[in-house]
Amino acid sequence: MVETFSYDTLFSETSTDTPLNPVAHAKYDFAVAYPAPETLPMDGLIQALQTAVDSDSEKVLAEMAYYPQQLGALELREFTARKLAADRGFAVSPEEIALTNGSGEAIGLVIQALTNEGDIVLAEKFVYMGTTNQLRRFGADIRGVEIDEGGIIPEALDDQITQLVANGEKPKYLYTIPEHQNPTGSTLSADRRKAILKIAHKHNMPILEDDCYVDLRYQGDVQPAFRALDDSGIVVYVASYSKLLAPGLRLGYFTCAPDLMRRALSFKIGSGPNQFASVAIEGFLKSDLDSHRDNFNPMLKAKCNSMVSALEEHFGDSGATWSVPEGGCYVWLEMPEASDIASIRDEVFEQGVGYVAGPNFEADASGRIGNNCARLCFAFESVEKNAEGIALLAQLFKQHGAM
Ligand SMILES: Cc1ncc(COP(=O)(O)O)c(C=O)c1O
Repeated sequence: MVETFSYDTLFSETSTDTPLNPVAHAKYDFAVAYPAPETLPMDGLIQALQTAVDSDSEKVLAEMAYYPQQLGALELREFTARKLAADRGFAVSPEEIALTNGSGEAIGLVIQALTNEGDIVLAEKFVYMGTTNQLRRFGADIRGVEIDEGGIIPEALDDQITQLVANGEKPKYLYTIPEHQNPTGSTLSADRRKAILKIAHKHNMPILEDDCYVDLRYQGDVQPAFRALDDSGIVVYVASYSKLLAPGLRLGYFTCAPDLMRRALSFKIGSGPNQFASVAIEGFLKSDLDSHRDNFNPMLKAKCNSMVSALEEHFGDSGATWSVPEGGCYVWLEMPEASDIASIRDEVFEQGVGYVAGPNFEADASGRIGNNCARLCFAFESVEKNAEGIALLAQLFKQHGAM
C-alpha cells in the first residue's frame, strides 16, 4: 500500500480549498450566465478559420507556431479598435488594447494593479459575483452603492463617498456594469453616466467599466460608454466576446491609460490568449458582426418577452416586481421582503427550476439583503421553456410558502 502524500502543512497561506463542482443543470435552467448553444455561430467560426488558412496558410502557421504576443493577436486587436470606434464611439489604437483569457482575466489584472489589502472599492449593491470574488481575493473591502431600476443613483454615490471620506475611508475606485447590468438588467442613462463621471473626477476615483453585455441589446438605444464620455484616462474599459459569441472561446479585452496597462499586464502569467480562437473571431466578425447580431438579438427579445409575460401571468398578484431589460441575459426578480427564496433555492432546483439567489450578488456580503431576490437568465432556455419554467417556479414558491 502506498501511503498518500500529505500537503496539509505545505499549502501557501493564500491558497484556499476550492470545490470543483461540475455544473449541474435544472430542467428549467435560469441559473446560467450565457446564451443558448444554438446561438453560437459554429459554422461561421470554422469557415472563418478555414478562410484564413486558405488565404495565407504560412502566416497562420507561423502565428500558431509561436507564443502569441502579450497583447494578443494583432488582427483581432485591430478589429476590436474598429468595433469600439463604430459601436462605442471612442478611438483607441490596437496598441492600447490587450486581449485576455475572457474579460474575467482583464478585470483580475486591473484589480491587482490597483488594489492593496483593505482598499475600499465601490460597486452596485447587487453585482456580478465573478468580480466581487476577485476583488475579495485581492484584498478589497467592497461597499455596495444604492441602485434603482436605472442603475447607480449618482446622488447616493456622491453622499456615500463624502461620508466615507469624512471617516477617513476614501474609496479607491468604482466597478460598474452600466449596460444590461448583471444581475439586475438595468442600463445607466447618459445623464447618470455624466453625473457619475463628475463625481469620479471630484473624488479622484477611477471607474472600471464592464461592458460585457453591450452587444446584446434588442430594444431601445445603446447608451454612450463612460469611456466615450471621458478621454482623461479615469475610465478603464473592459469587454468580452463571451456573450456575443461564446464563453468557450475565452476572449475578452481591456483598454486603459498606458501606465495602468503596463502595471496590469505585470500580473499576467504567460503569453496572450488563444491564437486559434482569435483568428476565428476576427475572421467571422469582420464580415458577419451585423448579421450575427441581427439574427441573435431578436431571439433574445422573444425569450425575454416570454419570461416577462409568464411573470405577469403567474406572479402578477404576488407583490413581486421584476426588471424588464432592453438587452443582456437577465431578469431580476424581487419578491416581497418577507419571502425567503434564497433558503429554498436548492429544493426548487431539485424540483426543476434553477435560479441564482440574491445574496450571491451582494457587494457588501453582509448576508442581510437579497434573500427575497433572484437572477433569472432568460437567454439560455427556449421561448417555450421560459414560459413553462416560470409557471413551475410560481407553483414551487407557493408549495414552499414563499408566495
Ligand atoms: C458582468 C460580467 N463581466 C465579466 C464576465 C466574465 O466573462 P468572460 O470572462 O467570459 O469574458 C461576466 C460573465 O458572466 C459577466 O457577467
